[in-house]
Amino acid sequence: MRIAGQLAKGGTMKERTLFADLFDAQNAQPETVGDSQILIGDSLEILPTLPAETIQCCVTSPPYWGLRDYNHPGQIGAEASPELYVENLVAIFREVRRVLRKDGTVWLNVGDGYARNGGTGNCGPNAVVGNTKKLVQKRNCKVPDCWGLKDRDLMGLPWRVAFGLQSDGWILRSRITWIKKTAMPESVKNRPTNATEEVFLFSKSPTYFYDPNGVREPSGANLRNYWILGPDTSGNGHPAAFPRELARRCILLGSREGDTVLDPFGGSGTTSVAAKELGRHSILVELNPTYAKMSKERSRHGTKTRIKTVNS
Ligand SMILES: C[S@@+](CC[C@H](N)C(=O)[O-])C[C@H]1O[C@@H](n2cnc3c(N)ncnc32)[C@H](O)[C@@H]1O
Repeated sequence: MRIAGQLAKGGTMKERTLFADLFDAQNAQPETVGDSQILIGDSLEILPTLPAETIQCCVTSPPYWGLRDYNHPGQIGAEASPELYVENLVAIFREVRRVLRKDGTVWLNVGDGYARNGGTGNCGPNAVVGNTKKLVQKRNCKVPDCWGLKDRDLMGLPWRVAFGLQSDGWILRSRITWIKKTAMPESVKNRPTNATEEVFLFSKSPTYFYDPNGVREPSGANLRNYWILGPDTSGNGHPAAFPRELARRCILLGSREGDTVLDPFGGSGTTSVAAKELGRHSILVELNPTYAKMSKERSRHGTKTRIKTVNS
């Protein structure tokens, strides 16, 4: 069952026809730039075309639920309910599990959001941001009818996704807290400002490849599960890119030189830029051709700034 089909209900018929023509996965030509392959289309359709057990690690960050509009009816994050969002992610990661080697891992960064009746404000997890289209925004202005959510409830989406994946067979090995050196400002006066996100480490099997020496604390101790990371200085035009240092750490801990790293929500290609710098191959899947083009450019030219390696 293609659960993501539910998402198509989000667009008008005209939009859906237009997008279907523009983004038909069957017409998507894989682009290879050096060691990275960029596939344009819906992960749920493209991942099944990849060979089984060929990927060592998956480093990725899907869209937040109900926040940004990535201009495609098959996009993750624009579902009518957060329950469907979790279901869609579980379906996509089931395919990721198939393509992952037996000793492979997934490093998943997921954001949270608040259930709201009414306005979403100008900042924070439910902000009305530059590319938030009315449809997605409107959906997020009504408390979803699930999980007993009430107005202003933090939805706990990262953990709901993590539990969904756990129930589907993944082994949840770690929760890493990404502490943002520069948090998005919020005008709230009734709770602390959000300045963290979760990165989950999942494995396919009880024993798996993890290189504890890939990244260590400055003291030489085993890396801890909180990472203090600043924003990337190599601004790339994508509204939700994660820091290259975040991708770099996951890749160093989860793969060896020459391995292949997958990002099923490729965006502007941060994962492939970091993979290239670390001598890994990469495969990206991205729905929006504009971002796919961006990642092609970045994969080709890299970025001017080198990644910082310190943990503070
Ligand atoms: C949070 S962004 C990823 C940003 C990326 N980590 C970076 O550093 O640039 C999520 C991306 O997933 C893409 N996306 C959404 N639904 C998708 C789907 N079903 N298949 C593939 N890509 C999808 C969006 O277009 C968006 O670029």
